[in-house]
Amino acid sequence: MFRGCKPDDMPPHIYSTAQTAYRALLSQRQDQSVVLLGRSGSGKTTNARHLINYLVTASTAAAPPNANRAVTGQVLALTSALPCPVEKLAAAWTLLEAFGNCRTVLNTNATRFTSVFSLDFDQSGQAASGSIQVLMLERDRVVRRPEGEPSFHVFYQLLAGADPALRQRLQLDDGAATGGDGVGFVTPLQRVEDRQRAAAAWARLLQAAATLSVQPAETDAIWSVLAAIVHLGVAGVSKGPSDKYQFADPAAARRAAALLGVRLEDLARAIFASQSSGAATLARSAYRTPPRAQEATQDLQGREALEAFVAGLYGDLVGVLVSLINRAISSPAHTINSVVVVDAPGLQNPSSCGRPGGATFDEFCFNYAQERLQLLFHEQTFIHERDRYAQENIALNMSELEGDVSTPAPLVHTLDRSPATRLVRSSQTELRNGDRRGLLWLLDEEALQPTPSDAGFLQNALDMYSSRGEFCSATREVRLWYAYTDC
Ligand SMILES: Nc1ncnc2c1ncn2[C@@H]1O[C@H](COP(=O)(O)OP(=O)(O)OP(=O)(O)O)[C@@H](O)[C@H]1O
Ligand SMILES: [Mg+2]
Repeated sequence: MFRGCKPDDMPPHIYSTAQTAYRALLSQRQDQSVVLLGRSGSGKTTNARHLINYLVTASTAAAPPNANRAVTGQVLALTSALPCPVEKLAAAWTLLEAFGNCRTVLNTNATRFTSVFSLDFDQSGQAASGSIQVLMLERDRVVRRPEGEPSFHVFYQLLAGADPALRQRLQLDDGAATGGDGVGFVTPLQRVEDRQRAAAAWARLLQAAATLSVQPAETDAIWSVLAAIVHLGVAGVSKGPSDKYQFADPAAARRAAALLGVRLEDLARAIFASQSSGAATLARSAYRTPPRAQEATQDLQGREALEAFVAGLYGDLVGVLVSLINRAISSPAHTINSVVVVDAPGLQNPSSCGRPGGATFDEFCFNYAQERLQLLFHEQTFIHERDRYAQENIALNMSELEGDVSTPAPLVHTLDRSPATRLVRSSQTELRNGDRRGLLWLLDEEALQPTPSDAGFLQNALDMYSSRGEFCSATREVRLWYAYTDC
């Protein structure tokens, strides 16, 4: 629809952005990138997909005649002859959404990972290959999440949609397999219509896996790991003789071990062995989120060990899924330039989501990533342009503009400022300012302490900022909901 139009004549539509990027790629022979920014639920993922589909379709139609074109004149049919056709892309989105999206307060299908999608073009300008990287997956959501929010879609789809044979193989038949309300990592859907919707999504998931030529043995392995995670949630943790951690429900743990193809003892050792030694501290510092109020304190280390294991398992599973997707959409074709599309979880203010306690650590990181990308946008759009005007001695009244366009730089620096140890400083004030670290650095330092705590982090943050009477203004600037509160 936008092909052949001049950029200035095109309405502000995602296709026009795609067209601009594609034209720049062809004319400059340079890689292009499109970064989608905005709050959660603003339509980033939806538009990223429209953009990629447009590029595949339009580039195929625009490319010079070749073998594919000789087969058929239909654009959509042409694209299905490519290694990276729109059908395969749709299947890839279906799989990624199931494993990486969930319902949140702001979006019923919120993305909980950052994706970097690369669409690679050959000499003729045709999309010849694709690949996706998944970063910063909110894998902890599998084991603990903000109150009222569910886990990733795929668990509910599996529980609602698996046919009797699969349920039996995964030992999900038994009602106790998924635990009661409040037990385990996943609570099965209660409402009939929700279960029906999840079952329909499961059917689409199977279809998507088939479209991407994922082999039955591979899908079997993926479903097994998902079911093992469900069973591990029910297995829980308790303290056994000689103060050692063990599974509270050995039958559920046995089901998980069988699905993972390991012996129960080996599974227990892999999860709990480090918790009875000094290594417990290390495990805790690498994975530290506020404990659930109802958890008995003495089970905390064991519970954290189980949760860290399961979160890691899920992260690895998604890594495998991404490599299967890439196997299906990539090709060995010689490509020369790429359009890279970046989509990250949108900004989310916990206080406007009814969570005055603050953001989770993952949300903090997601918000930080959005601000960082916003800063990039600011620099590209305003700062570089201003500098160019200055280089060419063109007078530009920036004061009017600057009043309207605030830079996210102070906020970003409050989060990620590194200690400026190499500064030569002459005064005590300069010394303190030079050593001022951002919240991410403070979190990192706290995590390396022998006994890290949220209170320790908060104290460091106060020490760093309050002595100059800036804490209030800094918190206002940082909008403290960003910070890892719950101290
Ligand atoms: N252009 C559009 N027209 C109508 N509805 C849209 C449009 N773009 C997105 N939506 C709808 O808005 C909702 C949120 O979209 P989407 O999931 O793409 O947001 P997002 O910015 O990626 O959110 P998050 O940051 O939480 O992942 C979806 O239900 C989607 O169908
Ligand atoms: Mg999204």
